[in-house]
Parts: sequence; structure tokens; C-alpha cells
Amino acid sequence: MTPRWAGKCEACGGWNTIVEEAPRDEVPKGLSGKAGRRIDFVGLEGQAAPLPRLITAIAELDRVCGGGLVPGSALLVGGDPGIGKSTLLLQAAASLSRGSAVAYISGEEAVDQVRMRAQRLGLAKAGVRLASATSLRDIIATLDGGDSPGVVVIDSIQTVYADSIDSAPGTVSQVRACAHELIRLAKRRGFVLFLVGHVTKEGTIAGPRVLEHMVDTVLYFEGDRGHHFRILRAVKNRFGATDEIGVFEMTDRGLAEVANPSALFLAERRGNVAGSCVYAGMEGTRPMLVEIQALVAPSTLSSPRRAVVGWDSSRLSMVLAVLDARCGLALSGNDVYLNVAGGLRIAEPAADLAVAAALVSSASDTPVAADMVVFGEVGLSGEVRAVAQTDSRLKEAAKLGFAQALVPASLRKGRTHPAGNGLAIQPIGHLQDVLGLFRRGQ
Ligand SMILES: Nc1ncnc2c1ncn2[C@@H]1O[C@H](COP(=O)(O)OP(=O)(O)OP(=O)(O)O)[C@@H](O)[C@H]1O
Ligand SMILES: [Mg+2]
Repeated sequence: MTPRWAGKCEACGGWNTIVEEAPRDEVPKGLSGKAGRRIDFVGLEGQAAPLPRLITAIAELDRVCGGGLVPGSALLVGGDPGIGKSTLLLQAAASLSRGSAVAYISGEEAVDQVRMRAQRLGLAKAGVRLASATSLRDIIATLDGGDSPGVVVIDSIQTVYADSIDSAPGTVSQVRACAHELIRLAKRRGFVLFLVGHVTKEGTIAGPRVLEHMVDTVLYFEGDRGHHFRILRAVKNRFGATDEIGVFEMTDRGLAEVANPSALFLAERRGNVAGSCVYAGMEGTRPMLVEIQALVAPSTLSSPRRAVVGWDSSRLSMVLAVLDARCGLALSGNDVYLNVAGGLRIAEPAADLAVAAALVSSASDTPVAADMVVFGEVGLSGEVRAVAQTDSRLKEAAKLGFAQALVPASLRKGRTHPAGNGLAIQPIGHLQDVLGLFRRGQ
């Protein structure tokens, strides 16, 4: 922000990118004059009807939203350009149109373009009301009319403009004002409002960050360009948990749901390769098995390379430091590459032990057993700590045909775990024991 005209933005270095905004009337006017009305307080207990939910019948989407869509709520769907936001919402709109009236307002694409997409997705017959519009005044007037729809999709909020505001569409003040009006209308008329928001796009000043506080649910649609998988993640949800993810696969007929992501993420795994380890992770309530790959190679650089895809690089530094200081495995002269196969991003500390096992396996050139899953958190003194939802992790591993599990020592030794369906449990108390396993050749 700059208080006067400037040709160059000091933050990003771009020329002519600064847009003037009229100052908002932020000086409180005080309370002189009229007296306020008394507010009545009530207890927390009361007759609140359970929230009715609209089901999209796209199970992955419903789960991420906390079990369906709540009428009167606003959802923001953000994501990189071309990741598939319009595709997902068109599919959801088509599915919802079987039960309620759905309006799809595209400011980005002409009607014909959306129709072409619908044709490609095999949804041309769906009863979605389609329009191409960008004027907030027109959109509000239409939606506030006699038969307002049950679901409204605005693709995207950056293209909507209010003619009363003197700045270009997509600027912070426009996006804020348009979203505010639309959300107010959604609450008043009780329709579900989907807003598409761009995270980065040339010329877009306001990312969805401005909107995140205003909407009820924020979903991010993410994925790796090189992969077909797309992950839908809730980062905020007033009506459900935020740790759920939905997994989709982008096909030429649109987004297909992936009901069993573990099998998909492990599909291309080659067993008995040093540096590869299967991590039994959790994404929300769902267990998810993924392959973690590490490559430890001698480095010629004075400060060796550390490259991480799909995991936290500071977490990798921590595991490397613990291996060095507590277990005597120094990798400071090596380049270390770490990759979560399939393009998934892991945020759980429970992956520490699997990362350590992959690193030790690569460094010692000894494969981790192909039928073994690993999970556990590593502490700074090298101790392996218990993690949550052990049973779900073990069940999923057993379901996918794994026979052994390397787990924190708090799971009792030598026993097969009741949840593990015959899975042989190898408890690990300290990271040193992992090195021991590889020395003995497991
Ligand atoms: N004919 C096609 N066959 C297969 N996949 C296609 C085809 N056309 C588009 N796609 C896929 O759909 C993606 C674009 O989807 P979509 O337009 O829904 O993305 P978006 O997130 O809405 O993009 P934008 O940010 O531009 O609005 C492409 O990246 C591509 O993967
Ligand atoms: Mg789009």
C-alpha cells in the first residue's frame, strides 16, 4: 500500500501495477443521537434443528464440505489457473440440478465455451441455468427475483464488478464489495453460493485471501501439473472438519472420483528399491498410503542440495539433524532428495519415521521390505512418538496386502495388533533401532 501515486510497486517490483482506491469511510461516527435497542441474551441450549444438507452426489466433494452443502452458506473455491475449478463446479452443478434449481453464472467464459465443456463432460442435458454476466447489479436483480435458485455458482468472483465502485474488476475493493453483497443475498434467500476465486493470475490484485473471512467454507483445489490427481482440501469450514480431502483424477470426461486413493498412489511403486518406503498416513478421517522416496547421493557442492517435493523442508532438516546427532549417521556431505510419489502433500509429523527409514535405506543401499508400512513421529532426542489413529492406518495397510508395520514402540511389542488383521508389528522406540534394522539387513 502506498499513500501517494507511485509508478513502481516496491513489493513486487512491477511497473504501473498500483491501482488507486477510494478511501473507505472508516472514521466511526460516534453514538450521539439515537439510543440503541437492548439485545436479549439466550442460553447455549436450545432448539436448533439439525442443518439440512444438499447432497451433490459427488462423494469426495460432499465429504470435504462436511457431509453436503448447507443452504444459505457461501463456499469459496480457490486454485491455480487451469487446475479444474470450472470443471468441478460444472459437474457439481449438473449433479445438484436433479434436486434443486441451479444457476451457473460465468463471467470468465462465454455461454458457448461452457456449453462445449458440458458437452465434453456429457452433462449437456443437465438442467443447469447458464448465463454469462459480470455486473453485480444484474446478478443481484436476477437472483433476488421471484424464483431464486437453490444453488448459485459464480465463476469467478474476480470478474464480477459493482458499477458504484470506481476501480477495476478484480481489485480488492471490488472483490470485497461484490462478495459481500452476494453472500448477504445468499443468507437472505437461503441459497448455496459457490464463488470461484483465483489464487494467482496476471493482473489480479485481490486473491481469495480477502474473501476467506467472509465465506463459510474455503476449499482449495490443488494438484501437480505433471499428475492427473487433483486434491480438494478444506482450509476453513464453519460446518465441518477441515482436515478432510477429496481426491479426483482429471480425465478427458472430467473429474473422476478416486474412492481408494491408497491403491492409486501406490500403483506405480516398484518394490525392493533402496530409498522407497510406504507411509501409512491419514488425511482427515481417511487413511492414505503413499510412497516416500529418498535419494542420498554424494555431493560435490560446498553446501549440498536439499530438495523436497510434497513434504516440509524444515521437517526434513530436523530428521537429518536427529539422524546425525543422535544416531551418528552424518549425511552432511550428501545431496538429499525427498519426494512424495503421486503429487500428494503430506503435513503430518507422523511421516517422520517413514522419511527417516527412506533416508537410511537410500544411504545404506538396502531396500525397505516391500510389504512393510511405516509411521511414527520422531522427537529431537531421536525417540519415536506415538501418533493418532493407529488402528485406521493398520487396517488400511492390511487391506492393501501389507504384512509388516514399523510403528512407535507404544504399540505393544511382538504382538499382532487387533486392528492389523495379522499384520506383524515391529515397534521402534528410538531412531537408532531403524539403523539397526538396516544393518542386520532387516
Ligand atoms: N479436451 C480436454 N480433454 C481433457 N482434458 C481437458 C480438456 N480440456 C480441458 N481439460 C482439462 O481441464 C483443465 C481446465 O479445467 P478448468 O477450465 O475447469 O480449469 P479452471 O481451474 O476453471 O481454469 P481457469 O483458472 O482458467 O478458470 C485443463 O487444465 C485440462 O487438464
Ligand atoms: Mg475456470
